[in-house]
Amino acid sequence: MPIYGTRPEAIKMAPIVKALQASEHFECRVTVTGQHREMLDQVNELFGIVPDHDLNIIQQRQTLNGVLTRTVSGLDALFAEDRPDAVIVQGDTTTTTAGALAAFYVGIPVIHAEAGLRSFNLFSPFPEEANRKMTSQITSLHLAPTGQSRANLLREAVAEEDVVVTGNTVIDALLEVAQKQVPFSDGQLEDAAASGQEVLLVTTHRRENQGSAMEGVGRALARLSERYPEKLIVLPAHRNPVVREAILPALAGHDNVIVTEPLPYGEFTRLMNLATVVLTDSGGVQEEAPSLGKPVLVMRENTERPEAVDAGTVRLIGTDEDRVVDEVSTLFDDAAAYRAMANAVNPYGDGQAAARTVVAVEKLFGLGERMPDFAPQG
Ligand code: UD1
Ligand code: UDP
Repeated sequence: MPIYGTRPEAIKMAPIVKALQASEHFECRVTVTGQHREMLDQVNELFGIVPDHDLNIIQQRQTLNGVLTRTVSGLDALFAEDRPDAVIVQGDTTTTTAGALAAFYVGIPVIHAEAGLRSFNLFSPFPEEANRKMTSQITSLHLAPTGQSRANLLREAVAEEDVVVTGNTVIDALLEVAQKQVPFSDGQLEDAAASGQEVLLVTTHRRENQGSAMEGVGRALARLSERYPEKLIVLPAHRNPVVREAILPALAGHDNVIVTEPLPYGEFTRLMNLATVVLTDSGGVQEEAPSLGKPVLVMRENTERPEAVDAGTVRLIGTDEDRVVDEVSTLFDDAAAYRAMANAVNPYGDGQAAARTVVAVEKLFGLGERMPDFAPQG
């Protein structure tokens, strides 16, 4: 039983769901918590996934404890009716940890996809670092995306035989979706694609950036739009009203700033592909944009995804308003600085992560042999 609740989990779980459904060994019951609603449904629709169970727990301006308790009590009741042989959770959201805990407490083995990421700061990202550490404590099979995430788990005394390096399924999803050249629903984006106008693509939602840091980012974007009137700034806005209240006021009246609703994944990947620079605090975007050869400026102080930083395509810049303006300007103005970052690298996957996942789950049930671990090329 895959259990997931938010947009990034849905994107990263979709290849696993497809592979489980294709396996002769498993019956797959998809359960969504509904921690997200529109942003979750959008992804399931794209991948043609119809959940078997939907806890529909979302509330506007929900609290972490609210998400946790509604998920645990919903799953407890569900497990009494439809008890799976194992659950698979993904990543580091509160759905992830609550799903793992609800299963663990009733004796159902937990499989954790995207295991072993660590920022080594309990409060950043908050609450994701704690969520992923807590989930690791009650997991039977750890699916680490990279060798570094595997090493993090081994340092925490997880047994070697319980860790499989699969690569990240986000690359499976990206490769599948990026093949289809979908049209943009927003005409201005189609015009930008046709004219070759340069695009700065921005996403932001992290809890620890909400409030004054995000207001500063809004002001930085407004300044960039004035400094570069010929370029386009595109912000697909997260549905969280707290995010919108912080970032949107500074952008009003700036004609070369386009604020959209969350874009369907196909449109978003197309936009990443045509963007000149990506500015984000997202986890998934840090994994995807490097494989498209796009420089990524990450509005955070640390990252649990060091591989693309080491490869030189991702730079951590924090949220200081002046620094955001300076770092973006450098990439727009300095061709050598741009070239140094714009390398396509694939430290996170090769498109086979879901296949390795299913083989690892089969092995957990005593079926078949282990596949060789994922190792990046080059
Ligand atoms: C959550 C995850 C975060 C992940 C992010 C991906 C936790 C604690 N946070 O953060 O790790 O990076 O998702 O986007 O698990 N809302 C809607 N419709 C939607 C989605 C959200 O209206 O489809 C609004 C609701 O008012 C909701 C609020 O956004 O209360 C916040 O959603 P929530 O899932 O609690 O937090 P995120 O910031 O989305
Ligand atoms: N994404 C999308 N539409 C958008 C913005 C992002 O499909 O308008 C995708 C993006 O490609 C990535 C994922 O959503 O796969 C990242 O989600 P988010 O930033 O909300 O969460 P995080 O990865 O930070 O947990």
